[in-house]
Amino acid sequence: MAIFSSKTREPQVDFSHLPRHVAIIMDGNGRWARKRGLPRTAGHAVGAETFRTIATYAKEIGLEYLTVYAFSTENWKRSQEEVQSIMGLLKKYLLEAIGQMERDKVKMEFFGDLSRLSPELQELCQHAREISSRYDGCQVNICLNYGGRDEIIRGIKAWQADCAAGKANPEALTEAGFSDYLFSKGVPDPDLIIRPSGEVRTSNFLLWQSAYSEYYFTDVLWPDFSKTNLLEAIEAFQKRSRRYGGV
Ligand code: IPE
Ligand code: IPE
Ligand code: MG
Repeated sequence: MAIFSSKTREPQVDFSHLPRHVAIIMDGNGRWARKRGLPRTAGHAVGAETFRTIATYAKEIGLEYLTVYAFSTENWKRSQEEVQSIMGLLKKYLLEAIGQMERDKVKMEFFGDLSRLSPELQELCQHAREISSRYDGCQVNICLNYGGRDEIIRGIKAWQADCAAGKANPEALTEAGFSDYLFSKGVPDPDLIIRPSGEVRTSNFLLWQSAYSEYYFTDVLWPDFSKTNLLEAIEAFQKRSRRYGGV
């Protein structure tokens, strides 16, 4: 059993029993910026760097899946300036990620209705997905224009269409069968969901998939979230007793 330890109080993590799938609500960028007298967009820029660091680290320690909430179906309510700045950062990130793919070899997927993004961004997502599909190791799922309720409604509509076309049997729907109609098709449910920034709510994230996820909340704002903070969350997770309704 590999135990992480060093001089200061470091999280004690058993790296041989990591959660398979960690999901993160990347929240707190705006407050991080406000605290420094900076525009909210500056928080998003630093938050994007934090994402890069954490995604790379997730692969390094051997997580199988990392899912991050980057932009929700509700985030369109923000000012045009802020939305455009987030989309600009996304483009920058994707271009860089594509450029460095051979080095980082992180497999990328996207959850959400991408059709509302600009054609250019949609193409970049598609490109990133295609070139990274041959990598193994950590799969990073980026949730863009994602909403848990929207995902479920879409799943129901797609299933209904399959029923009408005779490709699905309306009498035979199971939980596992329905999961295949979600963006997360083929991905195991998250074991651990982390929400930084002090908010204690799901904000429409992975509603179906989180039925038995362990939640971890921290006051740290996303731009400040460190590798150690990730290990602290995993340490807390490893102390939990998951019963799934049993004893
Ligand atoms: C999360 O940070 C980023 C997105 C939702 C796109 P926020 O922008 O929500 O930051 P706070 O919650 O206002 O601090
Ligand atoms: C959740 O954060 C969405 C993302 C982090 C992408 P929000 O900042 O949008 O959530 P609320 O408004 O605090 O619930
Ligand atoms: Mg927020």
